[in-house]
Amino acid sequence: MSRKRFLVTGGAGFVGSHIVAALLAEGHEVVVYDNLSLGHRAAVLPGARLIVGDLADGAAIDAALSDGPWDAVFHFASLSLVGESMTLPFKYLLENGVNGIRLVEACVRHGIKRFVLSSTANLFGAADRSPIDETVAINPHSPYGESKFMVERALFWADQIHGMRSACLRYFNAAGADPDGRLGEDHTPETHLIPLAIDAVLGRRPPLSIFGSDYATPDGTCIRDYIHVTDLADAHIRVLTQLDNRSVHYNVGTGRGYSVLEIVESVARVAGKQVPATMAGRRAGDPAVLVAGADKLRSETGWSPRFTDLDDVVGTAFRWREAHPRGYDDAVARSAPTSTPQRVRA
Ligand code: UFG
Repeated sequence: MSRKRFLVTGGAGFVGSHIVAALLAEGHEVVVYDNLSLGHRAAVLPGARLIVGDLADGAAIDAALSDGPWDAVFHFASLSLVGESMTLPFKYLLENGVNGIRLVEACVRHGIKRFVLSSTANLFGAADRSPIDETVAINPHSPYGESKFMVERALFWADQIHGMRSACLRYFNAAGADPDGRLGEDHTPETHLIPLAIDAVLGRRPPLSIFGSDYATPDGTCIRDYIHVTDLADAHIRVLTQLDNRSVHYNVGTGRGYSVLEIVESVARVAGKQVPATMAGRRAGDPAVLVAGADKLRSETGWSPRFTDLDDVVGTAFRWREAHPRGYDDAVARSAPTSTPQRVRA
């Protein structure tokens, strides 16, 4: 691919920073737009430029988009805690949904031709079949999922009426970390299974609580499809070539599910010792099984996951977390050039 220019909102976050790494590795020019409220300055690799700005700041978005031409805009900036969205629905509908639609409108106005959205398997709620392919009915399970669907619908009309092509990638469970050890998963608060299990085995947190052991699954715990974040990044790059004449939707996962107990066993194998864990009640809103049917992505783009061994996925996450007990606070300050700071959300 010849050298291209990309704007990446949320490029200082977990998934966004790995896509930035993949774009830089292909020799592209990357500008990250992130308010650093959840992302980390140290997650923006040298080689990318960082604009500190908020999705709610229309003037700052316009200023960033004016500095084109852009070959595509990748949109990751969002809140992503399903549980939190069940208690603060309008925070999600406004910050993810409304601000996301404003970004879509601004992209249309600035003549952007391609847009890639970080969407979610939460769109499918408690699906009545598995694996979940793109034909499963959309029935968002939370305001978080609904907020992503709002942006998907805006993208539909942006295509129909203005011809802006888009790819909506519905991720299953993003996991792992950059195999070169430069990037990892650092959320505050951390709610995800793999980092919490790793912290528990490293003695940095209390024993892991296993949320529910009475689901209709072989071992009674929930099953998820854990896709390595580098494989996720590869999917983002491959879909770009699909956007010349049409918009696309893909479910992105490995097609293989693992139970919570299987994840705990994998962390134990990688760490070489048992994970302290206790059984707890179900967590509200957790569907029993979420496994992707990703055949469409495979056949139309030639994508396939490189990380097919669960212990390799967990191993990359383990090594980064072991080396960064305080997450990115431990990362050496990097020298990513920063533009004049824009207004930042308090
Ligand atoms: N779990 C535990 N104990 C914990 C944390 C999680 O047992 O301390 C269980 C959960 O109940 C669930 C599984 O581990 O069964 C995975 O939970 P995560 O919180 O790691 O991930 P989720 O499946 O809840 O959600 C993730 C993303 C969402 C996205 C969804 C799509 O965080 O943004 O995947 O599948 F919508």
